Amino acid sequence: MAPIISVQNLTKTYANGFEALKGINLTVEKGEILALLGPNGAGKTTLISIICGIANPSGGQVLVAGHDVVKDFRATRGMIGLVPQELTTDQFETVFNTVSFSRGLHGKKANPAHIEKVLRALSLWDKKDNMLRQLSGGMKRRVLIAKALSHEPDILFLDEPTAGVDVTLRKDMWNVVQELRASGVTIILTTHYIEEAEEIADRVGVINGGQLLLVEDKAALMAKLGRKQLILDLAEPLERLPDCFAGNGLTLEADGSRLTYDFDADNEQESIAALLTRLGENNIHFKDLSTRQSSLEDIFVALVGASK
Ligand SMILES: Nc1ncnc2c1ncn2[C@@H]1O[C@H](COP(=O)(O)OP(=O)(O)OP(=O)(O)O)[C@@H](O)[C@H]1O
Ligand SMILES: [Mg+2]
Repeated sequence: MAPIISVQNLTKTYANGFEALKGINLTVEKGEILALLGPNGAGKTTLISIICGIANPSGGQVLVAGHDVVKDFRATRGMIGLVPQELTTDQFETVFNTVSFSRGLHGKKANPAHIEKVLRALSLWDKKDNMLRQLSGGMKRRVLIAKALSHEPDILFLDEPTAGVDVTLRKDMWNVVQELRASGVTIILTTHYIEEAEEIADRVGVINGGQLLLVEDKAALMAKLGRKQLILDLAEPLERLPDCFAGNGLTLEADGSRLTYDFDADNEQESIAALLTRLGENNIHFKDLSTRQSSLEDIFVALVGASK
């Protein structure tokens, strides 16, 4: 099946000469959840804005369901819902009207039942007659999501949707996202909360300095780049590690009281058992043992650090 989004050699140089995107290639399959991670200024919002057709590329091409986002703006924009990073809403309009109006802007017939469903899912129904200026910051963000869902888009972009949002709402929001995904909607989100990407995404892309450092299946990425460590707190500090342990992933920490062992997740049982036996044979005893598995955050920090 052709990808629903295809980004080819995309570049963006802003009017002041700043090169925000330096040749991005990316394809997104229908129905997946892709998380884009990257530090401030990496180019995430720029990339999303171009795919949504609200900013022009300097070079390259973006196809959405086979349509060029520049030449065929109306066709592609109608398929897309965008929850922007910045809050920009008419303060004096009511929640219900704002969301209904947004549906109309995308050329869809009025459908109050759909608007009600969206507002209920985002716990906004009891605020439907409030003016936007009467809402809290987190509620305004929910209104942006409701607007993006008002016209039943095939593709939903969420540009840092959970910034400034409390834990309960974040959970509600991810439930909505999972339901949308189950109904076939493709979702692309950016977030600074890496644990969120870890929880919710199928694939993860890392952007830094206008370049896509990688895009990969989340589980494969964690298996490939994630490290597993066994940590042994020693009963007696060691001065040095016996030579027979050299080069097998075992390290003695600075003050000699802790050993860390980098091990391969595929055959962990056997190699750890063998190691512990061998340590015992060498009179090295430990008082505590723990394991540590690197998170997506560790991988992200390592990748972005290395690309600076
Ligand atoms: N209109 C503009 N003119 C010039 N430079 C811009 C403009 N908009 C963005 N930039 C620059 O492009 C780079 C990428 O910005 P962008 O907003 O895409 O980053 P981001 O990854 O979304 O960051 P954040 O995590 O802070 O939202 C930044 O260095 C920014 O200063
Ligand atoms: Mg941004």
